[in-house]
Amino acid sequence: MERLQKVIANSGVASRRKAEELIVNNKVKVNGNIVNTLGAKVDKNDQIEVNGVAISKEEKVYYVLNKPREVITSVADDKGRKTVVDLIKDDKRIYPVGRLDYDTTGLLILTNDGDLANLLMHPKNEIDKCYVAKISGMLSPKEMMTLKTGVIIDGVKTRKSRVKVRKTDKESNTSIVEIVIHEGKNHQVKKMFEAVGHEVLKLKREKIAFLDLKGLKSGEYRKLNPKEVSTLYALVRK
Ligand code: URA
Repeated sequence: MERLQKVIANSGVASRRKAEELIVNNKVKVNGNIVNTLGAKVDKNDQIEVNGVAISKEEKVYYVLNKPREVITSVADDKGRKTVVDLIKDDKRIYPVGRLDYDTTGLLILTNDGDLANLLMHPKNEIDKCYVAKISGMLSPKEMMTLKTGVIIDGVKTRKSRVKVRKTDKESNTSIVEIVIHEGKNHQVKKMFEAVGHEVLKLKREKIAFLDLKGLKSGEYRKLNPKEVSTLYALVRK
């Protein structure tokens, strides 16, 4: 059993203090009956309504994972491969926000908050996603410009991106290139480089917005703190 105000706050509809206010102001029903005392306790089978709307009782959780190679970005796999959800010890129904390829590593957000997931994935919200690619060959100034202004992949021009060469290696004829995009089309980064004649040999996502991989080794994850969650919400609601 948990205190009613705590359950309401965990559902994300109000802060703990606001939840208390809602309760004493007769705005909360438990199993169809108004409950206006702050000591009330509820369990997971109780139906709770706030202002006539049923609350979702599952606490919202947010994780950032450093995805290893050879793990599939999905909640289940019919071929029995390990999924990103298998890596996180949490019984809630969490799922990945967007997709990283089987052989792509790096930053992935997982959550059970469908609203935030959808907002983060929508290209109109222009959330920066920073990738680092090891590619074959060296980019010419013209190819750089094409990548930045938009290349046609699957018949559609990509939006503007930021591109920076971090390193070139003449001996192996490869380059390390940073690219920041806002969209999340299937295999987007690989296809963008392919469109200008370079193969992506390795790909890692280093950042999404202000979130990075600091302190997280491959396969490790951590919970986002409330400040990080509200900053993400602020980015997508601006
Ligand atoms: N672009 C790709 O090509 N692959 C990924 O995994 C992510 C972005």
